[in-house]
Amino acid sequence: MTNYPVNMDITPDVKAFFDEATWTISYVVKDPETKKCAVVDSVMDIDYAAGRITYDSADEIIKYIEDEGLELEWLIETHVHADHLSAAPYIQKKLGGKIGIGEHIKTVQDVFGKVFNEGTEFQRDGSQFDKLFQDGDEYMVGNMKCFAMHTPGHTPACMVHTMGNASFVGDTLFMPDGGSARADFPGGDAGILFDSIQKVLELPVDMRLFMCHDYGPNGRDIQWETTVGDEKTHNIHVGEGKTKEEFVKFRTERDAQLAMPRLIIPSLQVNMRAGEVPTDKDGNPMLKVPVNGL
Ligand SMILES: [Fe+2]
Repeated sequence: MTNYPVNMDITPDVKAFFDEATWTISYVVKDPETKKCAVVDSVMDIDYAAGRITYDSADEIIKYIEDEGLELEWLIETHVHADHLSAAPYIQKKLGGKIGIGEHIKTVQDVFGKVFNEGTEFQRDGSQFDKLFQDGDEYMVGNMKCFAMHTPGHTPACMVHTMGNASFVGDTLFMPDGGSARADFPGGDAGILFDSIQKVLELPVDMRLFMCHDYGPNGRDIQWETTVGDEKTHNIHVGEGKTKEEFVKFRTERDAQLAMPRLIIPSLQVNMRAGEVPTDKDGNPMLKVPVNGL
């Protein structure tokens, strides 16, 4: 394991925003010493049937940042989401900050550039983003040193971002009673996901873990925060005693039964462009539907 610069003495303020339409949790993370903050995994609203995009969720985050008098430094994408659209560019236009994602976005762009038959004008070098993180990369939010950890498996570009004693796990893990995310998207791999989860579980047991999604399994209320210790003991897919072989078998069988996420087609087209909606040859915002392409 790379020697990641963990610092459990810093406790950032974490404000969560739950999006009921996509079961996504977005976060504003504030450095305890300054007014600087980061946004993790924002949501842009879409009525896909109507082809209508709106910004209520993003506006709520913007209002919070403005009301608290914060300064936005980073817009972090834990990965290319397949179930919701990122609002990072919309928020960036209002508040500034740099949009960052894992460097393996290039692989994701290559795969889905083909699926959506994008022309040569669609760059597959990650240049739509301000920062491409490599494993172990460090960055600052105010005085708080943060780092990114490459955690592929769900997708090739997945990263877990740690800010003080708070880690934003994306879709590497769900709450202990939710287990783990699917690993069957192009470039996904259940065995690699298991290994990535082990990297997360090697963080200090008191590390706070913040989920990207929660679906309230068995009718419980929505939750998004747990700890490494809790996941190690209680996670139903990877907790105490679960082997890699068991995980891969279970995950593969489960994934074969899962339907495609409702918003995968618009999400990928937008999110692989750092949250920008593609345009047609006349410059109008336009989405494609590849028939039998996924
Ligand atoms: Fe995801």
